[in-house]
Amino acid sequence: MDKNDLYQQAMRASQGAYAPYSHFPVGAALLLDDDTVVTGANVENRSFGLTNCAERTAIFTAVAAGRRNFRAIAIATPAADYPVGPCGACRQVLSEFAVPDMPVIFGQCAAHLVETTVGALYPMDSLHELGGS
Ligand code: THU
Repeated sequence: MDKNDLYQQAMRASQGAYAPYSHFPVGAALLLDDDTVVTGANVENRSFGLTNCAERTAIFTAVAAGRRNFRAIAIATPAADYPVGPCGACRQVLSEFAVPDMPVIFGQCAAHLVETTVGALYPMDSLHELGGS
């Protein structure tokens, strides 16, 4: 699966967002090692701090199903006018399961994709670089 296909799945997943407060739907698509895809969307709450981002929804869904081997993640933010990358909490959660060179692709439309890695977004990760496994 190429990055554009994965991104299209993230875009489709954004339709599942529950974002009545921010009006900012986000979709995430996680490519697993067997080439299957697990998606997620942001789920907000009237107690704003309880909001779960699309990335964490996808990661937690995959992990809860026993799927921990990720190859890439794409994130679609269709309401933005510039590419929006994962928040700090999502970078930390990604780093728990992903190797530092795992690709992270994000953007508001297919023509404006940013491609980076978990390690670039979350350097000096204690789990992977400071003596963990
Ligand atoms: N959000 C995500 O789901 N992922 C991101 O990468 C950026 C932010 C959500 C959280 C909240 O529901 C809305 O976008 C506005 O911040």
